[in-house]
Amino acid sequence: MKQLSNRHILLGISGGIAAYKSAELVRRLKDHGADVRVVMTAAAMEFITPLTLQALSGNPVHTTLLDPEAEAGMGHIELARWADLILVAPASADLMARLANGRGDDLLTTLCLATPAPVALAPAMNQGMWRDPATQANIEILRERGIALFGPAAGEQACGDVGPGRMLEAEQLAELAAGLFQSRALDGVKLCITAGPTREAIDPVRYISNHSSGKMGYALAEAAADAGAQVTLISGPTQLPCPERVTRIDVISAQQMYDASLEKMGNCDIFIACAAVADYRPANVEEQKIKKHNDAMRIELVRNPDIVSAVASHPKRPFTVGFAAETQDVVSYARDKLQRKKLDLIVANDVSDSRIGFNTDDNRVTVIGADTEQHIEQMSKRQLARQLIALIAQQHREPAD
Ligand code: C5P
Repeated sequence: MKQLSNRHILLGISGGIAAYKSAELVRRLKDHGADVRVVMTAAAMEFITPLTLQALSGNPVHTTLLDPEAEAGMGHIELARWADLILVAPASADLMARLANGRGDDLLTTLCLATPAPVALAPAMNQGMWRDPATQANIEILRERGIALFGPAAGEQACGDVGPGRMLEAEQLAELAAGLFQSRALDGVKLCITAGPTREAIDPVRYISNHSSGKMGYALAEAAADAGAQVTLISGPTQLPCPERVTRIDVISAQQMYDASLEKMGNCDIFIACAAVADYRPANVEEQKIKKHNDAMRIELVRNPDIVSAVASHPKRPFTVGFAAETQDVVSYARDKLQRKKLDLIVANDVSDSRIGFNTDDNRVTVIGADTEQHIEQMSKRQLARQLIALIAQQHREPAD
């Protein structure tokens, strides 16, 4: 059920005794990698508290349409756009009647109207209410509008009746929700990317760094998240906003990037080293700003640890991809680096060409593995990132023999 990985599921809860199962549903959806936000109707809060759902989902619970505080955080239209799927479970007879009539008289019905995402309902009600012609007519209208119906099951009901109207179990609902999504190349895969430059302090106000903008690493993070991966972006200082659905860890120095990478690598399937890590750092960082008393000054530098080599040499290594920025003999230097650093793949680019490489929007690369060599022509870093992610996903699934 990897299709739920990294999906935004808006779980709507309306008033019914089956609301107690919604707590379990939040857990199931999250177990399958979804990011869950909960919206409750006033009646739902009579059965289960927002606090329970907030604790389980890890997100604030939305309960009212016209709450200035909530609108200042994530407004209802933003919430409607955020969702990849609105799943209403339980969906009461009243909620379905309001949806069939196109009402927007509370937050949940308004979101169902406003969202561009698919809407699915898990009905739960007394068997008599389910069988009532009014309910059946509403269901017909909702089906015709393309709303998916999950269940209900038949059986013993909370009121003692026996018949149709029981809400499906949480795991069944999660499976049906997953079935609404197509699978993607990196569904369920955990991926770490290092990006940007590092800064190596000389004194409290000065540092050694480089021109890396982080654009390539950020584009890769975005493309990987779009492909279904759970992405951790370990980023040096950049001006770029964190892509959606990506968890960013901010670091400054190479040592901090090394520590974060080694900590995260145990929990990742693919590691992509895109950062322009400073090879050296000052041996001593002065505590006070250095004064310009002399005509010349010397700074002693020491080697930084090689992050990608350490990851690739680890006994529990993930599938490891490095980059090689070269100015001559690009492919042969890159191939040498692939072996020396024990990488699975290396992405080589020619930084002597000013149209590509550092701080540009375009790039052109050659991807090299033990038995592969593939050129990707010049294109925007975002387009290129999508192609690279597709290639990395394929090599990760079917590594060369
Ligand atoms: O050796 P070189 O710096 O050319 O290697 C580039 C590759 O190694 C890139 O993938 C870069 O992110 C990674 N690297 C690293 N740690 C370093 C230096 C480079 O992970 N200290």
